[in-house]
Amino acid sequence: MGNTSLNLALLIIFQFSIRATFSMKLTTILTDQSALLALKNHVYDPENVLETNWSSSTHVCNWFRVSCGSKHHRVTALNLSGLELVGTLPPSLGNLSFLSLLSLTNNSFHGRLPVQLSNLRRLKHLSFGNNSFSGEIPSWLGSLTELRSFFLDNNNLKGVIPFSLGNLSKLEILTLSGNQLLGSIPSSIFNISSLQKMDLSNNMLSGSIPSVSHDLLSIELINFNINNLTGHLSNDMFDHFPNLKELHLSANMLSGRIPMSLFKCKKLQIFSLSYNQLEGSLPVEIGNLSMLQRVYIARNHFEGEIPRHIVNLTLLSVLDFPDNNFTGTIPHQIGNLQNLEYLHLGANNIVGSIPPAIFNISTLSIIYLELNQLSGRLPPDVGLWLPNLEQLHLDINQLVGSFPMCLSAY
Ligand SMILES: *[C@@H]1O[C@H](CO)[C@@H](O)[C@H](O)[C@H]1NC(C)=O
Ligand SMILES: *[C@@H]1O[C@H](CO)[C@@H](O)[C@H](O)[C@H]1NC(C)=O
Ligand SMILES: *[C@@H]1O[C@H](CO)[C@@H](O)[C@H](O)[C@H]1NC(C)=O
Ligand SMILES: *[C@@H]1O[C@H](CO)[C@@H](O)[C@H](O)[C@H]1NC(C)=O
Ligand SMILES: *[C@@H]1O[C@H](CO)[C@@H](O)[C@H](O)[C@H]1NC(C)=O
Ligand SMILES: *[C@@H]1O[C@H](CO)[C@@H](O)[C@H](O)[C@H]1NC(C)=O
Ligand SMILES: *[C@@H]1O[C@H](CO)[C@@H](O)[C@H](O)[C@H]1NC(C)=O
Ligand SMILES: *[C@@H]1O[C@H](CO)[C@@H](O)[C@H](O)[C@H]1NC(C)=O
Ligand SMILES: *[C@@H]1O[C@H](CO)[C@@H](O)[C@H](O)[C@H]1NC(C)=O
Ligand SMILES: *[C@@H]1O[C@H](CO)[C@@H](O)[C@H](O)[C@H]1NC(C)=O
Ligand SMILES: *[C@@H]1O[C@H](CO)[C@@H](O)[C@H](O)[C@H]1NC(C)=O
Ligand SMILES: *[C@@H]1O[C@H](CO)[C@@H](O)[C@H](O)[C@H]1NC(C)=O
Repeated sequence: MGNTSLNLALLIIFQFSIRATFSMKLTTILTDQSALLALKNHVYDPENVLETNWSSSTHVCNWFRVSCGSKHHRVTALNLSGLELVGTLPPSLGNLSFLSLLSLTNNSFHGRLPVQLSNLRRLKHLSFGNNSFSGEIPSWLGSLTELRSFFLDNNNLKGVIPFSLGNLSKLEILTLSGNQLLGSIPSSIFNISSLQKMDLSNNMLSGSIPSVSHDLLSIELINFNINNLTGHLSNDMFDHFPNLKELHLSANMLSGRIPMSLFKCKKLQIFSLSYNQLEGSLPVEIGNLSMLQRVYIARNHFEGEIPRHIVNLTLLSVLDFPDNNFTGTIPHQIGNLQNLEYLHLGANNIVGSIPPAIFNISTLSIIYLELNQLSGRLPPDVGLWLPNLEQLHLDINQLVGSFPMCLSAY
């Protein structure tokens, strides 16, 4: 009697586990396959790549641009970048529950991102860049907490950046550039301590840059170029980014001075602050940034002298300083900058003579010094040591002497 009921219980357990295993296996294969076939049915495929390759007669794991995990044989990567696909995303794409990489970059997908994608909890790399997705950036994206890289650049996304993106605590790359995003930058984004690159450029973001309370030791690139950001940069902002290599804040409406903390970012290679309303002098501490290669500060209200200290920054290739109110003379040792390619000091109030050593920087290809109060005589052999010179603009100054013969060819 006891034996029989034990056997019965075992049988039930046995049957249950068989059925559970069986049904799981069955749906895994079928689910992934039908999700991909639904995607195939949603797209126009001009090159017929999917049409000829994604066929039920071959195993899903052998389909073009599909990869499966070696243990569980579920689809883990779907990379359809650059196939000229046109279409929308079917909700069933959210059934690819083992997916770790999803790239649809460089196609013409449109419509909204289906909420079912929030089921893809294992996603590490999500790239929808260079498509025509519309609507808002959904807040459920903040639940994809395994994400390492996330590209939504160059779509037609509108609305605000959801606060929930701050939940993506493993994110390394965030690229939302080239949309029509509005509102302010959510402070939660500066809470992601793993972040390495953050590109929010080419949107319509407004308000001031949020204050930062955590150190972001990994961050190397911040790009907020071409938005509508206002306000001052907080004094201690760059204390939190000790490993920053690139800062791009050009074409906004930022005001105030450059915070001194920027000059503690010893790894800085590029800073770009052009087309804002920044004021004050360019601090001499710029001379501390020995890795600096390119400095863009055009069209602001900077004043005072160009700090002599830049002559020690021998990696500099671009100095783009026009349309400010710089006074004083051009640093005489500027000839030290033997990697300089682009020198633009036009439309300032710079006086004195042009240091002849400028004309010895053989890497220079563009020199703009027009619209200043430069005086004196050009050396007769200008151009002799400038084999790469493409443009030299000196007009509206008080220079005397005939134009050097050796430049007549340019
Ligand atoms: C699909 O494309 C891949 C890569 O081009 C190829 O190796 C495979 O044989 C193709 N499969 C089918 C069924 O066409
Ligand atoms: C996706 O596939 C394309 C073409 O094979 C390749 O160039 C690209 O690096 C792949 N992207 C990822 C994220 O694996
Ligand atoms: C996949 O997802 C769709 C829509 O989200 C759902 O209706 C369907 O039942 C799922 N299909 C399978 C085979 O699990
Ligand atoms: C998308 O296309 C651009 C321009 O051709 C290219 O630079 C980029 O690497 C492509 N992205 C991917 C993921 O293939
Ligand atoms: C989109 O295209 C641009 C240039 O056309 C390229 O620089 C960018 O890397 C592409 N985005 C992605 C995610 O590949
Ligand atoms: C994600 O972010 C939202 C908004 O910031 C918050 O309300 C929610 O609790 C967060 N969820 C998790 C799982 O951390
Ligand atoms: C940042 O994270 C901390 C915990 O790690 C949390 O207490 C705080 O509310 C978060 N701030 C924002 C702006 O998300
Ligand atoms: C920028 O903001 C100003 C006012 O704050 C507004 O008038 C203007 O339309 C905005 N420009 C863009 C491109 O969003
Ligand atoms: C610049 O470097 C000097 C000398 O190393 C140092 O005393 C000074 O504190 C530095 N300034 C900044 C803003 O980092
Ligand atoms: C340039 O560097 C040298 C040596 O490190 C230092 O003595 C000099 O004061 C620096 N010059 C300027 C203008 O910063
Ligand atoms: C430049 O500075 C001078 C002297 O401080 C001032 O009179 C002038 O208005 C400033 N010009 C601009 C364009 O800021
Ligand atoms: C420029 O370089 C040439 C050749 O090295 C040298 O003869 C000349 O004196 C230099 N001129 C200046 C102004 O440094």
